[in-house]
Amino acid sequence: MSLNTLVLGLQWGDEGKGKIVDALSEQIHAVCRFQGGHNAGHTIKVNGQQTVLHLCPSGALHPKVQCVIGNGVVLSLEALAKELKGLEDLGVTFENRMHISNACSLILPSHIGIDKARDKKESIGTTGRGIGPAYEDKVARRAVRFGDLGDSKVLKEKVTTLVNYHNKVLENLYNAEPFSIEKILLELDSFKYLYDNYSSDVQDIIYKWSKEGHSILFEGAQGSLLDIDHGTYPYVTSSNTTAGGVSTGIGVGPKFIDKIVGISKAYTTRVGEGPFLTELFDDNAEMLAKRGHEFGATTGRPRRCGWLDLVALKKAIFLNSVTDLCLTKLDVLDSFNSIDACIEYDNSGNPVYKTFPGWMSKTEGINDFNNLPENAKSYISFIEDFIGCSASIISTGPSREQTIYLD
Ligand code: IMP
Repeated sequence: MSLNTLVLGLQWGDEGKGKIVDALSEQIHAVCRFQGGHNAGHTIKVNGQQTVLHLCPSGALHPKVQCVIGNGVVLSLEALAKELKGLEDLGVTFENRMHISNACSLILPSHIGIDKARDKKESIGTTGRGIGPAYEDKVARRAVRFGDLGDSKVLKEKVTTLVNYHNKVLENLYNAEPFSIEKILLELDSFKYLYDNYSSDVQDIIYKWSKEGHSILFEGAQGSLLDIDHGTYPYVTSSNTTAGGVSTGIGVGPKFIDKIVGISKAYTTRVGEGPFLTELFDDNAEMLAKRGHEFGATTGRPRRCGWLDLVALKKAIFLNSVTDLCLTKLDVLDSFNSIDACIEYDNSGNPVYKTFPGWMSKTEGINDFNNLPENAKSYISFIEDFIGCSASIISTGPSREQTIYLD
């Protein structure tokens, strides 16, 4: 029986979606990205080898899994070409299994120029990948889209208009260098093979697979608290990272999804600027960062670290209609004497914590729930009760095998 699953992050991204999507992909026909762009960094570790994917769906490492990039994604052809080449060098091939929507808005070098120039002035701490400016152009109906690569005349007209506009913004607002339209057109021409090989009517294909009884997995990027509408605005990314993003970013109705797996770390991290109520600035922060290797997979920036915020998590469970919780990086807490989790905010908006005894023993690599220390089981059980959602997956390390499946 087919089972369509959505996997998404419940915090500020970096929850470990890549590993979980990769693990679930074994039973799946296709994995689809539906929002974001190469600001994402999904890390997968297989047989000791680590791969970071930015644009390719995390099912890519399974040779039979179909890969889909939906219209909701903003696409840098340069980043995609580089990523595909890197994977091909590892022996991963994409012939007849990569499908990219013609309606994807393209990220041009001038989007990156604007993103960087603007972030210098109004710091959000973006990844500097041109994501925000590309989504702006999409909504303003002036974007160049993947399908435009199929008509060189249309492409030239659209790129000329758009880059002229970008250059005005760059020169007049940010006192920054303009971009050469000719160079951008030449670059786009060098990536035309991506259009020739992978351009697709994504909605049609999904419909066909669905009719054939195949299971499809939708892979969120970033996390719920970075959602453009529901996140910590304006310190957010520019797409809908929450469950609704699948419908618009691929073209399926909400009822198409059977299972919604929400991923949260056993603590919290955030990259970039913006509020973070449970952020720590003491030795505990350092220990979380060190044990959890908390450096951005895309930018290498150190991540801010803090305790789990159960109030925010509960909200994210509702926001996404999560059916299954996946708790990751439990092992990072192995050497803490005690562990805090925020259970409410006081009148001044500060976190109120409940303290749990640590387990002070190794959970890394455990793949049977019964073998977890009692204190770890109690911590998980409190989380489940508080948020009103059971954990189906618990991750105890970066590798595929270091996973507990409860359902
Ligand atoms: P942008 O998506 O590059 O525009 O960045 C906007 C905000 O989202 C910044 O705070 C980034 O650090 C954050 N962000 C974007 N992508 C990711 C991600 O994949 N993981 C974590 N944070 C992200």
